[in-house]
Amino acid sequence: MAHLGEATTFVTENLDHDDFNLRQNMSWISETTLPWHSILMLRLLKCGRIPKHVAFIMDGNRRFARKTNVNKIDGHSKGFDKLSEVLQWCLDIGVEEVTVYAFSIENFKRSKEEVDGLLDLAREKFQRLLQEREKINKHGLKIRVIGNKSLLPDDLVKLAAEAELITRDNHQVLLNVAFSYIATDEMTSACNKVLSGLKDNLIEPSDVDIGLLSECLHTGGSQFPEIIIRTSGETRLSDFLLWQGCASYLHFTGALWPEITVFDFLWAIFKYQRVAEELDQLKEQLYASKPLSDRETQFLETINRERWLGLERTLVSE
Ligand code: FPP
Ligand code: MG
Repeated sequence: MAHLGEATTFVTENLDHDDFNLRQNMSWISETTLPWHSILMLRLLKCGRIPKHVAFIMDGNRRFARKTNVNKIDGHSKGFDKLSEVLQWCLDIGVEEVTVYAFSIENFKRSKEEVDGLLDLAREKFQRLLQEREKINKHGLKIRVIGNKSLLPDDLVKLAAEAELITRDNHQVLLNVAFSYIATDEMTSACNKVLSGLKDNLIEPSDVDIGLLSECLHTGGSQFPEIIIRTSGETRLSDFLLWQGCASYLHFTGALWPEITVFDFLWAIFKYQRVAEELDQLKEQLYASKPLSDRETQFLETINRERWLGLERTLVSE
């Protein structure tokens, strides 16, 4: 597929250092006005089916850093800036949920310098979120951090918990930040929740099916993403949303993540709209499950309650 991001490439390649530092300080939701032609395209697409949930594999930050002669962490920081733009596009078009692959468990194998840099960037961004609480609430952005938090430093887990707690009552758009995440670890954790439910007699073996396991994933309560977009020309899922992506439209673009443009995004939505009905049928035929029983609902409510209590406890722990 032709990559539509050349105009942005030109701009970012010519950023001088002051611009770079200025934009590094960007907040979670960009509030820039889109050009008239993007608004027009967006409105046209809104006449068709708009996905409720879109997921992104934000790949290509280091290649972008090399290309623009900045260090790796500045490349990741530009990646965060792009995320805030993408969130704005999603809000504008009416997407209700966004999931981003921000740090995989595999990423821990990178150099200490890069891992520390990425963890510091996350600290900085969650602190920023706490500072701009009013703006976040104005946009109704709710944050959920999904992944294996036992692998993360305590102070970062605390910041993430605080971000989740202060945005708990927002309902405009839910942002799932997959951090210290891989899908196979998520599925294992779902199996363990089911096993402890069985052990505590909260559920019966006959309850265990696709529907119950889906609700025990970190994304429990959400519908599966209709689209998964990966940037940078790689055509793999890299252990991201393997269960939830069973019937998603997969969109691969050659743009590096910090260079993805609103046109790339709208093109992905357009392509999805052409196959949306087919994907719906596939989902219905293959993955339909029976409605949850009262017992299962109660079990899931218990898990959810414990999750929130866990977040609250994180804040008061030493
Ligand atoms: C993949 O590009 C990107 C990452 C591993 C990190 C993505 C993180 C962000 C965009 C920041 C998000 C932060 C928060 C708090 C949400 P890569 O490093 O694999 O680049 P390459 O493919 O060019 O090597
Ligand atoms: Mg990569």
